[in-house]
Amino acid sequence: MTVFVLGSINLDAVARVDDLPRPGETVAGTSLELFLGGKGANQAVAAARMGAATRLMGAVGGDDSGKSLKASLAGYGVQVADVLELSGVPTGQAHVWVANNAENMIVVTAGANALVTPQQVGSTPLEGQRVLLCQLETPATAIETLFRTGAAKGALRVLNAAPALPQGAALFPLTDILILNQTELASYAKLDREPVRLEDVSLAARKLMSRPDQTIIVTLGSAGVAAVRRDEAFLVEGKKVKAVDTVGAGDCFCGSLAAALASSMDLRDAVELANGAAALSVQKAGAAPSMPSRREVEAFLET
Ligand code: RIB
Repeated sequence: MTVFVLGSINLDAVARVDDLPRPGETVAGTSLELFLGGKGANQAVAAARMGAATRLMGAVGGDDSGKSLKASLAGYGVQVADVLELSGVPTGQAHVWVANNAENMIVVTAGANALVTPQQVGSTPLEGQRVLLCQLETPATAIETLFRTGAAKGALRVLNAAPALPQGAALFPLTDILILNQTELASYAKLDREPVRLEDVSLAARKLMSRPDQTIIVTLGSAGVAAVRRDEAFLVEGKKVKAVDTVGAGDCFCGSLAAALASSMDLRDAVELANGAAALSVQKAGAAPSMPSRREVEAFLET
């Protein structure tokens, strides 16, 4: 059961505030902590914590942050031989504000993440990789190369098209499983409002399908997760938990789902497992550090 993640690695500087600032407003932070983050790194950690042999491809800067983030990833069991250290370039950073009600705002400066190339991807053998997992914090050209090469090797291609970017849609035809949240779905499907009911989510998701064998999964926050295929749509309800920090919850879902699918779990069971993992992750601070182990998720789902 192997998961190959191509994605971003960031140093997350997380300031907690009582309420998020409005434009032009200055507010006092109550704490500031540094965490391993970045959608690629978070998803790789989630997959590894769920028991999958996980490789991460990406890039950090040749600075202290880059070295320490790589070491942290390795500490979580993620294979980092394909993470380049690029001298003279800063490691990616995310400035994250989390309010008491768990809402957040994030600004990302890509740094080395923007310098991942199709050549870096093309030089890596993909034999034995069952699931390829990407997000949109690394260049779309590199993702395209990975998905085209991976298709020839029979790998399952999973795209978390986050954040929503115009160039993301061009990758949909190369994708087997597309994962979006409601805001991203509304953006790609060009809707005025975020769909809420399963029927509306399903209608919008079907607008994005370019092949009959594709699956689109839409995370609905506390309402749960919808999965839409050509002939069926189902909802897995959200778990009622007290959220302290939702940063990385979507990443937890994606990485956990990839790990479950790599172990040949059926789609509905995989969605249920990943939904449980995400519910656990929001109860802890930090993105990568909040990813639960498989044992924790299974125990949670039994209660
Ligand atoms: O999805 C959450 C992640 O988005 C954070 O860890 C931050 O680094 C940004 O990339």
